[in-house]
Amino acid sequence: MKPTRLIFATAAFALSMLGLAGCKSGGGNTIKVGEFASLTGKEATFGTSSHEGTLLAFEEVNAAGGVLGKQLELLTEDDQTKAGEPANAVNKLISKDGVVSILGEVASSRSLEAAPICQQNKIPMISPASTNPTVTQEGDYVFRVCFTDTFQGAALANFASGTLKAHKVAVLTDVKSDYSKGLAKSFKEKYTSSGGVVGIELDFNGGDKDFKGQLTAIKSDAPDAIFLPGYYNDVALICIQAKQLGMNIPIFGGDGWESESLLSIGKEAMEGHYFSTHCSPDQGTPEMVRFVESYKKRFSGKFPDAMAVLGYDSARVLIDAIKRANTTESAALRAAIASTKDFSGASGKITLNANRDAMKALVFIRINAGKFTYHTTVNP
Ligand code: PHE
Repeated sequence: MKPTRLIFATAAFALSMLGLAGCKSGGGNTIKVGEFASLTGKEATFGTSSHEGTLLAFEEVNAAGGVLGKQLELLTEDDQTKAGEPANAVNKLISKDGVVSILGEVASSRSLEAAPICQQNKIPMISPASTNPTVTQEGDYVFRVCFTDTFQGAALANFASGTLKAHKVAVLTDVKSDYSKGLAKSFKEKYTSSGGVVGIELDFNGGDKDFKGQLTAIKSDAPDAIFLPGYYNDVALICIQAKQLGMNIPIFGGDGWESESLLSIGKEAMEGHYFSTHCSPDQGTPEMVRFVESYKKRFSGKFPDAMAVLGYDSARVLIDAIKRANTTESAALRAAIASTKDFSGASGKITLNANRDAMKALVFIRINAGKFTYHTTVNP
């Protein structure tokens, strides 16, 4: 007990010397912003990337003098990729730390857990990457800097009929994930309304290891392609097992596929498959080029993924709104975020619509020779 108490006492002393201890945001010397992210657990690459992007934005702004004459302070909570933790994290950030706003999460299920708490407390929340349409429907204090799955599902449906020329598609959904269920739904609506046939539809639970049962059933149904709206870790295992079963049809999915781990786990089983996502680090816009450079410099040469880019953009949209509101008072800050228009994000131009969603282009990536290669762009 003793050493712990000593550490606390020392930390409290150090903080009070810096003038940080016990200050509610706004009144203190810093502006406190909360972040919740899956830094550990099953989807650790999501949280790590979005956190790094967010941190970079904060460091840049602080180095340039901060905002409203204050430095920004980022308080990050790890939700460990676990249901129940996002609620704990945002409750702590709001009630105990007194943050003026919350950034997070990547995964829709975790954003959906936190959003009602932010809404109830009137603390603006900006999700960098949660695409399920219902996230921002939680209330007028909830925003996102990415497109929704209504748009992504339709783009994937057009891709299936147009590019893959698939007449019949099997759908394999992660029933544990709001993202997966929502994206499956919007895909199916658009695909069937434009004449496609949804063949066999099967479920899995994120974290499962054996998908041979579902894949064998899909194989007998003989679809032209498999739509797999999952996250990278499950997707990689499913593609490996499909290959082992001798299935040669294209498998395609959405942004949840994006992680370097998709390639390191799935290896050659990923070849020729496709997914849609938010941006490509190769898109060559000045904002993206600059971001990729600073990110690599800050994180030992590491190449950013979409979550890193969106984490960065979510933080910069918030900081821009604080500047424009010229206060961190909650209603004024909310209104300033809501009026975000033509903001030059690293991922692209960000304009928030009346539903507090960003209207943005989407890109298709093909996995080719062990690399994510840019395929096409779909505009909203
Ligand atoms: N869009 C996914 C969700 O809503 C999260 C995600 C975003 C995953 C970007 C990867 C890349 O759950």
